[in-house]
Amino acid sequence: MNKIELIAQMFKDKSQQPQKEIVQAFAPANIALCKYWGKRDTELNLPLTSSLSISLGNKGTQTQLQIIDSPSDEIYLNHKKINPEDEFAKKITQFINLFQEKSQFNLRVNTVNNIPVAAGLASSASGFAALVLALDQLYHWQCSPTELSILARLGSGSACRSFWPGFVEWQQGERADGMDSHGVHLADLWPELRLGVLMVSSAKKPMSSREAMEITKQTSILYQAWPTQVARDMKIIKQAIKEKDFIALATAAEHNAHAMHATMISAWPPICYSQPATLQAMQQIWQLRQKGLAIYFTQDAGPNLKLLFQAQDQAAVIEAFPELDMCEL
Ligand code: PMV
Repeated sequence: MNKIELIAQMFKDKSQQPQKEIVQAFAPANIALCKYWGKRDTELNLPLTSSLSISLGNKGTQTQLQIIDSPSDEIYLNHKKINPEDEFAKKITQFINLFQEKSQFNLRVNTVNNIPVAAGLASSASGFAALVLALDQLYHWQCSPTELSILARLGSGSACRSFWPGFVEWQQGERADGMDSHGVHLADLWPELRLGVLMVSSAKKPMSSREAMEITKQTSILYQAWPTQVARDMKIIKQAIKEKDFIALATAAEHNAHAMHATMISAWPPICYSQPATLQAMQQIWQLRQKGLAIYFTQDAGPNLKLLFQAQDQAAVIEAFPELDMCEL
C-alpha cells in the first residue's frame, strides 16, 4: 500500500458499504490571505508552511454522487459528461477508487461549480472538499470536519481549508503521515470585511499549481526566503483578525501574494500567471490607494485578482470596478 492508500484505509475501515443511492454536498471555495506554496511531501500534499484563508460563503462546488448500473464511473462537470481520459476526470476517478471495491458498483459524479474551473479561483479546493463531504454521506462514515480535512488534502492541498466558513488556518503539522496537517477554524467574525473577484480571464491556467510550486521550490533562490515571509505574515494576519485591523490584514495579504509570485517569476522556467490586464488592474488599485481608498488585493495561481476592502468603501470600489463579483463571506 502506498501512503495515500494507507490513509484511505482508515476511512474504509469505518465503512465500505454505500448507505444511500444518491447523496450531495456543498463546500465553499476559499481564498488564502497567507498562501500555501510548496510541499514537504508531494504525495500527501503536506505543506512546507502553514497558511490561512477565508471561505467564500455561497461560491463553491456542489457535488452529487449516484450509484449507477454502468461498467465504469461517469464523471460530469457542470452537467456535461467528461471524457474519462481528461485530467479532471482522472483525478476524481482515482480519488473515489480509493474507497470503492471495484467489482461492487460504479458511481456517477456530478461536480457543479459556480466559479470558473482552474482559473485560480480555488475550484479544486471546493471540488475536493465537496467530494469528500459527499463520500462521507455515501458511506455514512460520520467523520468530523478535521478528519475530512485530512482526507481532502490528499486530493488538493488547499481543499483542507474548505470545511468551515470564515477564517481557517491550515496548520502545517510535523508528522510524516500528515495526520496533524489540516484546517483549523478560527471563530473570529468580521462582518465589515469585503472580498470581490476581479475577473481578468476565465481561461484555463497554463500550468497547474501542483507543478508550478514544485518548479519554484526546486529552482528559485528566492524560495528560500518564503518560509520567513510566511511566518511574518501569518503572525500579522492572525493578530489583525483578532483586532479587526483591516489595514494590517490587507497589507500583509497583498505583500504575501507579491512575495509568492516573486518566487515564481524567479524560477526556471519562469512562471507568470499575470496577464497585461492583471498588471493594469494592479496599477489602478495602487493609484486608488494613493488617493486614500483602502483597497488591497491578493492573487493566486491565475490572472484574476481578489480585492479586499471594508463595507464602508464598497460603493467607491464598485464605482471603480463595476464588473466586480462580490462574494459573501
Ligand atoms: O491546493 P492547490 O494545489 O490548488 O494550491 C493552491 C495554491 C494557491 O491557491 C496559489 C495558494 C493557496 O494557499 O490557496
